[in-house]
Amino acid sequence: MVDYKELGLVNSKAMFKKALKGGYAIPGYNFNNMEQLQAIIQACVETESPVILQVSKGARKYANQTILRYMAEGAVQYAKELGKEIPIVLHLDHGDSYELCKSCIDMGFSSVMYDGSSLTYDKNIQISKRVVEYAHKHDVSVECELGVLAGIEEHVKAEKSTYTQPEEVVDFSSRTGCDSLAISIGTSHGANKFKPEQCERNEEGRLVPPPLRFDILEEIQKKLPGFPIVLHGSSSVPKEFVDIINANGGGLKDAVGIPEDQLRKAASMNVCKINIDSDGRLAVTAMIRKTLAEKPAVFDPRKYLGPAREALAKMYARKNREVLGSANKAF
Ligand code: G3H
Ligand code: 13P
Ligand code: ZN
Repeated sequence: MVDYKELGLVNSKAMFKKALKGGYAIPGYNFNNMEQLQAIIQACVETESPVILQVSKGARKYANQTILRYMAEGAVQYAKELGKEIPIVLHLDHGDSYELCKSCIDMGFSSVMYDGSSLTYDKNIQISKRVVEYAHKHDVSVECELGVLAGIEEHVKAEKSTYTQPEEVVDFSSRTGCDSLAISIGTSHGANKFKPEQCERNEEGRLVPPPLRFDILEEIQKKLPGFPIVLHGSSSVPKEFVDIINANGGGLKDAVGIPEDQLRKAASMNVCKINIDSDGRLAVTAMIRKTLAEKPAVFDPRKYLGPAREALAKMYARKNREVLGSANKAF
């Protein structure tokens, strides 16, 4: 049993309380490898932002569960070395079983998500409750999900989103005892969040997605005042990176994300955690493609992973400052 407190990690309780009061959101940034983790820590230390390091089931398998535990401890020590002991959470993203959540808690995670959104309402409650009972014994935070996001998650593939029903949130949160609730109000996973036919085109011919359902968020907020809400699928799919990818041999067609002003608005409401993974993938891929295209003789991974890491850190720092509002909120 690895105690997350011994690794220097914190759970998300105090973070969310502060974020709700301050009208900003904590970044939930996903990582799979060392460069992504370094970039997240660099950016969050530079901007003095609290951070939630997210690991999906696939990322855990990719990185190895034992290595991850040391990476998380390394991240805490790295922040210290950079001069600021920002609060850091290690979070399981989209846990799909009680066993996976338990295993992560036993290996030093300070927060887990149990995602039963594809199950029936009652089954979702039943397993979520079990996860909460085990997690709370170890002072670990639990995020659960109600409503289905369109797009592709590891274990959930949904053509269409099913918005969270506000009339269910009080019953769900009180029966499960979860600490935060992920909701569906129109975001979705991946770099192609909307079909072109769902969007309008602006003067430059760029796709403009339909707005998020702030009316649903407002209803949820009324029913659960002061309760932490989480927004998944919140990458903005920066044009800058999509263009670099496509100019250097990539084939990203009709990629479209969530406009930053909508995320800013959500963060000022009860949304206190915003999940971003795809934008990081786009930044890395763009810089690797560009470097290899411009310097075909390069074969040292540091020569293309270095610029990728730099672009990532710059992007995360900007998001903390200009979108989530988490900059200068670490202390
Ligand atoms: O929401 C899903 C995250 O983007 C993780 O994706 O399962 O491919 O690691 P992954
Ligand atoms: P994006 O695909 O929009 O980055 O969403 C990430 C996410 O929700 C991770 O849980
Ligand atoms: Zn997600």
